[in-house]
This record gives sequence, C-alpha cells and structure tokens, in this order.
Amino acid sequence: MPGKILVTGGTGFIGSHTCVVLLENDYDVLIVDNLSNSNVEVVDKIAQITGKTPHFTKLDLCDEKSLTDFFTDNPGIDGVIHFAAYKAVGESSEFPLKYYHNNLLGMINLLKTMDQAGCDKMVFSSSCTVYGQPDVLPVTEDAPLKKAFSPYGNTKKICEDILQDQVGSTALKGIALRYFNPIGAHESALIGELPLGIPNNLVPYLTQTAIGKRESLKVFGNDYNTHDGTGIRDYIHVMDLARAHLDAINRLISKKYKEEYEIFNLGTGTGYSVLDIILTFEKVNGVKVNYEFVDRRPGDIEKVWADPSKANSELGWKAESGLEDMLRSAWKWEKSLLK
Ligand code: UD1
Repeated sequence: MPGKILVTGGTGFIGSHTCVVLLENDYDVLIVDNLSNSNVEVVDKIAQITGKTPHFTKLDLCDEKSLTDFFTDNPGIDGVIHFAAYKAVGESSEFPLKYYHNNLLGMINLLKTMDQAGCDKMVFSSSCTVYGQPDVLPVTEDAPLKKAFSPYGNTKKICEDILQDQVGSTALKGIALRYFNPIGAHESALIGELPLGIPNNLVPYLTQTAIGKRESLKVFGNDYNTHDGTGIRDYIHVMDLARAHLDAINRLISKKYKEEYEIFNLGTGTGYSVLDIILTFEKVNGVKVNYEFVDRRPGDIEKVWADPSKANSELGWKAESGLEDMLRSAWKWEKSLLK
C-alpha cells in the first residue's frame, strides 16, 4: 500500500516524528517547510533514525506559485499530511492577522494546488482547543465546539471547516485529527520539541527549569476545581500521535473511511494535573524541579481529557505510552540539547 506522502511542516515537532513513522513503514516522504520555527538539520536526524532520507524542499505554503511548481515537479503524490502552521497561542492574540494570513492562506493554497494536481487525500493537524472547556468529560468528537479563545485556536476551527467544505465539493477525502497535549520525544533523542525563546507549554518549560535554563516553573493557578487545584490535561506521547497519522493516511489510501470527512480525537483518555506532571517528572528522572504557584493564565481552561474510543475502534489506534515514558523521553531530549 505505501506510496508518496507530502508532509507540510515535516521538520517541526509532530511532523518530524510522523516522518520517522512513515519512512519506517515504507512510505516515500516529501517534506516542505519554510523553516520559520524549525531547523533543516532535522532532515538528517530523521535519516539517522530511519536509514532513509526524506526529500526536503524549503517552501512557504503562502507562496502559491512555488507550491504549484512543487506539485508539477513531484507528480504522483498520494496524500498530504498538513502540519505547517504557526502555533503560539499568546503570539496569535498579539498578531492575529499574522496567524489568519499564514494558517488560512497556507491551507487554501495547499487544497487548491492539491486539487489541480489530482491529489485527493489530506490528514489535517487540528487541536482539542476547538472544544474550549467542554460541558461533559471525557470529550467526544460530537461535543459542541466553543468560540475559540485565541486566533490560533480559531484558525484550527476555520481550517477544519475549509477542509470539510472542500471535501463536500471535490473528490477530496479528509481526516482532521484533534490532538490533546503532545509531549515527549523520539527515544533516540535525535528529534524532539525545539521551542524558540521562552517556552509557552508546560513540559518544555519544566525540562528547561530542571536543566537550569529557567529559574522556576510557574504553575498557573492552584484554585481550580480539580484534585489538587491545578489544571488537568490529556498528555499524549508524540510517537503515539505520529502512529495515528500513519493509521489515518492508511485509512484514506486503502479507502477504509466511513465518511469522506472524518474527525478523531487523539488522546490517552486520562487527565493529569500540572502537579501530577511535576511530581512524576521528579520521580522518574530523579531530579528536583523548582516551581511556584502564580495566578491563573488568562484563557486557560480548568480540565479536559479525551474520549479516544472512536480512534481506538475506527483507526485501530491506541495510545501506548504512559506518563512516565513521556516524561523520561522529554528529559532525555532536553539533556541531549546540551551536547
Ligand atoms: C495549548 C493550546 C493548545 C495547543 C497546545 C499545544 C490553549 C488554550 N491551548 O494547550 O491549543 O494545541 O498548547 O501546543 O492555549 N502550565 C503551567 N505553567 C507553564 C505552562 C503551562 O502551569 O509554564 C499549565 C497550564 O495552565 C495548563 C497546563 O500546564 O494547565 C498545560 O499547558 P500548555 O502546555 O501550555 O498546553 P495547553 O494550554 O493545554
């Protein structure tokens, strides 16, 4: 079954891990990335892990002409996994047009050029952010979507709508994957998350604090209605997430989909609090983390975790790694950056 897959944003965090899984499963992988938030050396790391070198093109999806030329130069692409997007929540509130321009135009140009090239399968990288604070937990794919708190979150919601509309009017088949909180890194520690500047997300901030790059981890709020007062999320190992992309693209290529546009939650189904994360990290890695409680972060929800049963039964996918493995791999990755 394997064929030729275009991975946009393939040198980024989730994209790079997905490229590894695709190559290990005999797909030809073509990466396009504008390198705005990643490094071209990631291509070599992917090759080191898999023994196969993905084809890399530096390209910005907002440049429609280059994208058209890319599809002309690379005929026979079977499907696209679309990661390339800006993803910093806080920055998106500061510069909303930057986010709407990049994330929406990238999606539109990609779908347009795919259509022209006769490429009719897309897996889209979406987020549980589209649910906001759900009324019922665990959250299923049928839960009502809430108004996005940030322009970033809104671009995920709008891109899902664009994909669905394009599926409805062309031969395109699409799968939107709604990720919960991806953390961890490949066990080789050759690839992982490389936040530029001060990390926004919990685990990169935590590992940078543990290694001494940051003085103290600020825990945003300890007065939530949760078992220890800190916010709860469904953390998922990035390699589990990567495997789900393989299952999703296989489903499209083998025509196993039940509907031409489908949505799947990707989470473990278990929620952990910020304190659970800190204490587990300290226990499994044998390091102390300096932390302090501060006010809630504006826009944060109290708690969310997935009902992943649709992905379990339909995609045949299940998250395998537990929290300890995720936090061990995150620490190994942080330490590897010192070298
Ligand atoms: C955010 C985004 C989500 C995105 C995800 C991964 C929002 C509303 N959601 O999720 O769309 O897909 O990042 O990029 O922004 N925390 C601390 N101290 C820190 C950082 C975080 O206590 O320094 C806490 C947060 O309050 C939260 C938990 O840790 O309870 C997880 O936060 P974070 O890693 O930033 O992810 P989300 O906000 O859940």
